[in-house]
Amino acid sequence: MTIRKIARMGHPVLAKRAAEVPDPGHVDVRRLVEDMIETMIDANGAGLAAPQVHEDLRVIVFQAPITRSDPGLGEAEAFDHTAPLTVLVNPVIEVVDGSVEGGWEGCLSVPGLRGWVERAAHIRYRGVGLDGRAFERVAKGFHARVVQHEFDHLEGILYPQRMTDLTKLIFESEIKHWAAPDEE
Ligand code: NI
Repeated sequence: MTIRKIARMGHPVLAKRAAEVPDPGHVDVRRLVEDMIETMIDANGAGLAAPQVHEDLRVIVFQAPITRSDPGLGEAEAFDHTAPLTVLVNPVIEVVDGSVEGGWEGCLSVPGLRGWVERAAHIRYRGVGLDGRAFERVAKGFHARVVQHEFDHLEGILYPQRMTDLTKLIFESEIKHWAAPDEE
C-alpha cells in the first residue's frame, strides 16, 4: 500500500468526468482502493475519490462515523446516517425526496478551507463493492453529504462550485465564528 499524492483544486484531473470502471473486481482496482483508503486515513479525510489521487476512474471510498452525525439522533434514525468504511465503484445516486440540508464541507483537494453547501438530505445510492457485487443503501445527514461530495468528484465538480453564498467560503481556523456547537 502506498500513500498517494492528492491533486489540488486547479489540477485538470479534478475537473473532468471520470471513466467507468469496466471490471470492478480487477486486481488493479483493488490496489487502487487500498492506496485510496491509506491516503484518506493518513490525511484524516472522511472520503476520497479516485481523481483526487490522479486516477481517472469512477471509484470512491468514504465513511460516515456516528461521531460526525447529529448527536440528537435516535438509534433507529442513526442507522441511515452512518456508514462503515465503504468502497463504491461506478456509483449511481438517486434523490429520495426534495428535502435539502446545509452543512460545512471541506475537501482534501481544497486544503485549509470550509464552505457551506446545500445538498439533498435523503438519497439512495448503489454501486459495486470490492467483492464485485452490486449493493444499494439509503443515506441521510452526513452520510448523504459525503456520498454526494465524493460522487461530485467523479463529475469533475468541487464543493465550491456547489456553493450559492461565497461569503461562507472560509478558512478552517475561522469556523469558530460560524458554527454553533451542535452544527459541527
Ligand atoms: Ni473532496
